[in-house]
Order: sequence, then C-alpha cells, then structure tokens
Amino acid sequence: MSPELSARLSEMEPVSAHPMTEAAGVEATSEVLRLAAAVFQDSEHPMAHAEEWDRRLQEGRGVHFVVRQEAQLVSFLTAYQSNNVQRTRATDDADSNCFHVWMAGTHPDFRGRGAMTALFHAAEKSARSRGLRYMTLNTYPTRFPDMFKLATAQWEMYEDTMGGRDMKDKDVGKVSLIKLLTCAIALPWAALALVARRPRSAHARRGVACRDGAEQATRTPILAPFQTDPPRVLLVTGATSRLGTAFARRVAEERAFDRMLLCGRNRRKGEALAAELAASGIHADFLAVDLSCQMEVRSLCSQLRGRPIHCAALLAGVTAVPTREETPDGLELHFGLNYLSRFHLVTALLENFQAAGTEMSPARVLLCGSSRHRGEPVLGFSGLGPALPVGLGDFKDMQLEDTNAYRPWKAFGQAALCNVMLAYELQKRFRDANDHIAAVCFDPGPLMTAWDLYRREENRWPGTGMAQGDKDMLAYFTRVVQDPESAAELPIALATTCSAMPSRTPQVGYTGYWELGLPALSKFPLPWNWSSSYDEELWSTLWDRSERLVQDTLHHSS
Ligand SMILES: NC(=O)c1ccc[n+]([C@@H]2O[C@H](COP(=O)([O-])OP(=O)(O)OC[C@H]3O[C@@H](n4cnc5c(N)ncnc54)[C@H](OP(=O)(O)O)[C@@H]3O)[C@@H](O)[C@H]2O)c1
Repeated sequence: MSPELSARLSEMEPVSAHPMTEAAGVEATSEVLRLAAAVFQDSEHPMAHAEEWDRRLQEGRGVHFVVRQEAQLVSFLTAYQSNNVQRTRATDDADSNCFHVWMAGTHPDFRGRGAMTALFHAAEKSARSRGLRYMTLNTYPTRFPDMFKLATAQWEMYEDTMGGRDMKDKDVGKVSLIKLLTCAIALPWAALALVARRPRSAHARRGVACRDGAEQATRTPILAPFQTDPPRVLLVTGATSRLGTAFARRVAEERAFDRMLLCGRNRRKGEALAAELAASGIHADFLAVDLSCQMEVRSLCSQLRGRPIHCAALLAGVTAVPTREETPDGLELHFGLNYLSRFHLVTALLENFQAAGTEMSPARVLLCGSSRHRGEPVLGFSGLGPALPVGLGDFKDMQLEDTNAYRPWKAFGQAALCNVMLAYELQKRFRDANDHIAAVCFDPGPLMTAWDLYRREENRWPGTGMAQGDKDMLAYFTRVVQDPESAAELPIALATTCSAMPSRTPQVGYTGYWELGLPALSKFPLPWNWSSSYDEELWSTLWDRSERLVQDTLHHSS
C-alpha cells in the first residue's frame, strides 16, 4: 500500500469510492493471488498455485469479485459453480446447484469497512442471476473469526456430504456453511437459526452510536453502489420513525436492495433519511403520503404503477391510542391506518409485486402486526384476553363505535388480527408458483411507544384491577422492551433472507405469522396460542368486506 494512502486511512478520513467489479477469472488471478498471499500469509500452501485456481475457475465458470482502492486490490472473493450440495440437512433436493465461495479475504489494513459484506452481496447477486439455488462456504472459526461471524449472520452450518465424505473436519475446526437462495424450501427451523444467529444490531456492532472518531469513520462508505438489472426495489412505510428508520438503515447497510421508496407524512424526516441513505450509496426517494387517507393511498399506488416492487415493508401504524380517533375517512384509526390502508396498498400493487417476483425469489409483503391479535391482554398474556369483534365474526362492530366498545388494546389488537388474516389470505390466494408473491405478518415485539402508553394512568389495562400492581409489572416489563434496532431484526431477516419466507405448502398459516423471532409453528389450541386468526372463513369475509370498504370510502371522498 502506498505510504500516502496508508497515512490517510490511519487518520480515518473519508476515502473516495470505487466500484466493485466482477473481473474475468483467469486474467485477474495473478493479482488476486498476490493479495491472497498477503491475506493468508501462506504463499507455500498448495492452494496458492495459480494452476489450481485456474482449473477451478474454468471448470466452474468461476469469477473473482474484487474491491479496489486507488487501483489497488484490497479485498477479493473467488467463487465458482459446483454441484457439491447433494443432500444436506438443509434440503432434500438431490439436484442442487450452488455457487461455492472458495477463497475470500481483505487486506488487513482495510478490514472492518464493509468490503467483504459487499463482496458477499455481489456474489449472491451473481449466483441468483445464474439461477443457482445455494451458496456454500467452508471456513475455520478459530483462524478466521471475522469471516465466520460475517457468514453465520446470514448463512447456516451444514454437513457437506460431497462424494459421500463428511467435509466437516473436526480436527482442524473447519465448518461448512450454506445459504439457500430459493424460497421453495423454506424450513422454519432454518430461518429460526438464521434469526437467532444474527448479530444484535449492526449499529451496535459497528459502533455507530460511539463518539469515538475512529468508529465514526467506519460509517463512511468505501464502495460505490452496485446495482442489479433490473434494480431491486423496497417500499417502506413508517420509515420516518423508530422501527421503520432502524429497518431502512440496516437494510441499506446490507445492500439487499438497490432502491428504496420511503413513504410517510413527515417530509422533513423522510427527506433527511433519503439523503442519509443516498450518502451511503442507496438510491432512496421519499414519497409524502398520509396513509390514513384512502384517496392518498390510491394516488400513491397510481404513482407507483408499472414499477416492479420486490419487497413492501408496511410498518406505519399507531399503537393503542388512548381514546378513539378517526381517520379523515371516518374509520377507527387503528383499523383505517394499521390495516385498511395496507390492504388497499397491497391489493392495488399486486401487479407491481408480480412483475418483480420470480419463482426463485418471490416479492415479499411484510405486514407489521402484534401478538395482541389474540385479544386484549390479561395479566400480560394476550392469548387469554377477551376475543376481538372481528375474531368473533362480528363485522358490524369493526369500527368500535358502540358506547364503551373502544379500548386502546382492543383497537390495536383487532387491526393486528386483520393483518394476520390478510397475510394468510394472501398466502392462500397467491400460493400458485406462478404468482411469485409471499406474504408474512410479524410482531416486532414490545417497543417503547407501547410501554410509554402503559405508564399513563388513564391507559392501564382496563378491567384487570391492576392499577396498583402496575408499577412493579412495569419495572419488570420495561426490561424486555427493545430498542428499535433490535425490534427491526425480524423484519430485516424476513426482507433479506430467503429461508425466512413461507413455503408453499397446503398448510397456509404455519409460517405466515412470526413473533419472538419464530414462525407460528403450531395451531394447537393452547391458551397462549389460541387465535381466531386460523379461521379460513373469516379471512375471505374480511377480504371481501375490506374491498367493499375501500371502494365505499373512495366513492364518498371523490
Ligand atoms: N410499540 C409497540 O410495542 C408495537 C408492538 C407491535 C407492533 N407495533 C407496530 O410497529 C410499528 C412501528 O412502531 P413504532 O413504535 O416504531 O411507532 P412510531 O415510532 O410511532 O412510528 C410510527 C410510524 O408510522 C408513521 N405514521 C403514522 N401515521 C401515519 C399516517 N397517517 N400516514 C403515514 N405514516 C404514518 C409515522 O410517521 P410520522 O413520522 O409521519 O408520524 C411513523 O413513521 C407500528 O405499526 C406499530 O403499530 C408496535
């Protein structure tokens, strides 16, 4: 490395961005080999011989993905096609085809700056464009802990049975990792493992909150944006506040999408976030819209006509508003904003999703819900709470207009229940492999908004006589309240990880709702698992009523 560049990096000043390139394999090998020797300090290793690299690259249509700084190669990843995933714990597919990451490394002076993450993304995009189903990687956790940490954040361990041999070399601590690139074989346990293994928060991990100059500087992007063709587009609502902002920032960091459409009311916050994401290399636009107003939702959908959308994360919503409020259309606020506007948006954008989804990677619809869909909480257990009108098939009282009908958690829970049922009904209607849409509802877990509300005297759990005991309960429960970055972990996994998506099985509903980082695996009528959300008749009644309600609302407002 040149002394000037070295000096500049040690001061951690912003460095200029350089594009990542996918170089032709053979031509770049000697340059990559020089870097590999510096990275592994192991030039005598047989793998260091150019002939071996060339042979693998030629046989497997291999490529080097590289990151350059001032024309100098600083990071590389070499991958080639292989059919060595024969029968793994992760899949029963005997004809699997994978992109095998054979060698990868970053020059020691450039580590911790996101280069390897970007290379992983580039390799994954290349694997997807080749129509491959898996990516594999072998590594040594003790020798390369950073690589192991990075890979296990999104990949899972498996036993590679290549040629009948067990490749998990326990003596030298080698582990084999796999990433599924298709939704056709989504095993909940695999997704669970992925979620559980994700680092708590990239912000915490990368020291974003620290005032320390060096850590601040790690935020400076060193890579120019790379883009797929067509670009992968993510639509986010509610990005102007906690959960949504944390979600948008992390997804941008992961570079899982090329473009973001941020929808919300608060123009100042929305445009500031779009500018922040643009500075990190993501093309982001803010679209101002009041989602509680169905006319505005309609005009948003018209603006988006013809644009493929790969994922919609519908996070905008209110939580347990103390007294009954109405949307401009006269609907109860939770119902109108948290549910009906999402129903309207999703059904109006079906063509956008179908244009973006593929069999390998269906477009995703993520609906923010809550465990409160099981009813109002009693002693902290929502499953034991009184049923919600919609859950009882009482569609007359959906707006909670009757005297004394309104309660904050009832209204919030009912809107959440409608979201769960919408996800199940979407799964049912678009189960066909040609539809290319996957829908999931999830509970992000308790966020501070809700607990701020619990603190208010007038908003204590109604009818439970717990006003006195509340303080102790709160002292306990506020410990489990999460920061938005942690709450965003689940939707991030659902948006970016293939195996976290529902499989196309006849058992609709099994993986269409997630909470506590897990898919709802069981329909057993256990008290805490009780839910009217499993009633298929209710799904379609709700769908029909919602369609009519949207039409009526638009009719009255026009
Ligand atoms: N708090 C919890 O414990 C909890 C639990 C489960 C689920 N949730 C759900 O998680 C989501 C995020 O929660 P949070 O705590 O991050 O909430 P938050 O900080 O209050 O953020 C809500 C977001 O929704 C947007 N929004 C509200 N009304 C809107 C409207 N009429 N049109 C467009 N956008 C609107 C807000 O935009 P503005 O900036 O313009 O206001 C904001 O971006 C919500 O859907 C909530 O219901 C929360």
